[in-house]
Amino acid sequence: MNERFLPTHVGIIMDGNGRWAQKRGLPRKMGHRAGASTFKEIARYANKIGLKYLTAYVFSTENWKRPQDEVDSIIALLRSYLDEMDGYAKENIRVRFIGDRTSFDDDIRGKMARAEEKSKNATGLTLILAINYGGRAEITNAARRIAEEAAKGMLQPEEITEESFSRYLYTNDIPDVDLIIRPSGEYRLSNFLIWQSAYAEYVFMDGVLWPNFKPADLDAAIEEYHHRSRRFGGLSNQNG
Ligand code: IPE
Ligand code: IPE
Ligand code: MG
Repeated sequence: MNERFLPTHVGIIMDGNGRWAQKRGLPRKMGHRAGASTFKEIARYANKIGLKYLTAYVFSTENWKRPQDEVDSIIALLRSYLDEMDGYAKENIRVRFIGDRTSFDDDIRGKMARAEEKSKNATGLTLILAINYGGRAEITNAARRIAEEAAKGMLQPEEITEESFSRYLYTNDIPDVDLIIRPSGEYRLSNFLIWQSAYAEYVFMDGVLWPNFKPADLDAAIEEYHHRSRRFGGLSNQNG
């Protein structure tokens, strides 16, 4: 695929792990395990085709509502994946995490910081993992920090613009998402990148659950994206 034709930033809502497992009579955690290996394959593929930013929705602020053993199995997968992330620097993949890290144990937070630090000079794909991420929490946190600065007199209300506000988000130095892909037949955002997706294109894929998602499905979504006309409120198509 020609690099010139790629969206800058793709977001993926990796949904359908549980249903994939249930269909096979397996426990849901096996679906998460299969989903994790699909994720690794897609991240490598995205880097190979020259994509600049890929954000994957790994765990939402609402996913804590699930049974404790399911949450534990997801965190265990995260822990072992974080150890593998050391290899990304060599593959020229830069790793970033967005979401509230304070809910995680010190060892997980340390591994996240190490993965970011080790890969910070990579110039290929920026792989962003949304973990304990919620768009509303992100916006609320930004508003709280701005209010604190204003209360201290460090910031005037008129200095708050869309541009300055967005610098308080987790994604402060990351361009807005261009394309959001959601497999599994659900047609919603579920609190993913709600600020950053104001002008995103959406591709919902009915026929595929995340563990079955293939590089060809990413290609197909990007192809679909190219047939969209992005006007950003104006009259001319600014896509491509
Ligand atoms: C997505 O798959 C993974 C997480 C939300 C952590 P699900 O676990 O939501 O799978 P379904 O939607 O129940 O099939
Ligand atoms: C969204 O999927 C979160 C992730 C994929 C991590 P969910 O399965 O949690 O979303 P809902 O509950 O169907 O909206
Ligand atoms: Mg789901």
